[in-house]
Amino acid sequence: MSLLTDKKILLGISGSIAAYKVADWVRALRREGCQVTVVMTESACRLITPLTMAALSGNPVHTSMFAAEAPEKIPHINLAREHDLLVIAPASAQTIARLAHGLADNLLATIALAFSGPVLVCPAMNSVMFQHPATQANLATLRSYGHMVLDPDCGKMACGEEGPGRLTDWEDARQAILSALAPQDLAGEQVLITAGPTRESFDPVRFLSNPSTGKMGYAMAATARQRGAMVTLISGPTALVPPPGVRYIQVTSAAEMQAQVMGCLAANTIIVKAAAVSDYRPAEPQPHKVKKGQAALSLPLVANPDILKELGDRRRTSANFPLLIGFAAESRDHLAEGNRKLKEKNLDLIVINDISGTETGFAADTNRVTLLDRNGGQEDMPLLSKEETAHRIWDAVIRLRTDNR
Ligand SMILES: Cc1cc2nc3c(=O)[nH]c(=O)nc-3n(C[C@H](O)[C@H](O)[C@H](O)COP(=O)(O)O)c2cc1C
Repeated sequence: MSLLTDKKILLGISGSIAAYKVADWVRALRREGCQVTVVMTESACRLITPLTMAALSGNPVHTSMFAAEAPEKIPHINLAREHDLLVIAPASAQTIARLAHGLADNLLATIALAFSGPVLVCPAMNSVMFQHPATQANLATLRSYGHMVLDPDCGKMACGEEGPGRLTDWEDARQAILSALAPQDLAGEQVLITAGPTRESFDPVRFLSNPSTGKMGYAMAATARQRGAMVTLISGPTALVPPPGVRYIQVTSAAEMQAQVMGCLAANTIIVKAAAVSDYRPAEPQPHKVKKGQAALSLPLVANPDILKELGDRRRTSANFPLLIGFAAESRDHLAEGNRKLKEKNLDLIVINDISGTETGFAADTNRVTLLDRNGGQEDMPLLSKEETAHRIWDAVIRLRTDNR
């Protein structure tokens, strides 16, 4: 199951050359269990056929306010009432201007006026058109109405020009759709999240590390942002793209991570330590590549700082310390180890990750975690996607936050 399952999305397509790209968005939304209804302007119908969109969405496409079929249903009112979210993508300069001025001269614009739920506008046009003061003023007006406007990407466009105006990519649109549908119950929170592994260099080409991919920490960051938090993500080396809208700080070693965490501490209200920090580092990193040829080589190690413990210790002597959430990757004695770390590191909540299975822990897209909190609460979660797991963890954090007040 996805967070989008059973959500009803009304997709308004206007006359931009990028209209063909949202055909893929419809497929992606349906894969996640969304019900998608498409509304197209007259110009959009010249660029991509309603038939294509009907086939992909599995629903009739609406193009006219005065449709012959079922006129008693008053299409613009019914469509506006029946959906959770209105996504206008691509939004042409003309449609953006219509919406900004409250015009109701076609079906899409009239629905937008009659729609009381969240509206997401995804502009796509030539970069000169996008940067024109009229378009910028119209977008500012849409923002003032509470609509979410997803900035277009920069790059080469169909017209041959380069600049801002390309329709945003699906991943960013998906995050914005999730934000539009998520409760904003982390609004006002400043969240600091660490993620990924650290690398401890032995020589310029070799290092000690672990298989952490950062997926769980990045899911924590994306979902916190969706729920309205301001997020700082401090990440070790991963192959992941940081979620949109988060402040991103890249580090390599545990020492760098420690410096960044301690440097950012003051501004935050919640700290989530999801990084898999190397416990040890080579005692004497070599400035030059160590040549092969020796039959054996020993590598003396020294302990790295325990960042989570340091935070827990600071918390003992500091009033108004941020809520402290730790992660523990365990392959046995999960509960005993989790409880020990919860107390020893003075945490509010610990997320115990079972790394023994293939469906959980490092690299997997799913996870099965147990939460232990400082009040003695225990919650065993089922196998879920990392994104859903992250939402459940935030639910638990919000409950703790409420208990605290
Ligand atoms: C081939 C072609 C591509 C177009 N691409 C865009 C575009 O990407 N963005 C845009 O704002 N207008 C674009 N236009 C112009 C719009 O289609 C035109 O302004 C139209 O009035 C938009 O109407 P609508 O907003 O009701 O769909 C394009 C026009 C043509 C002929």
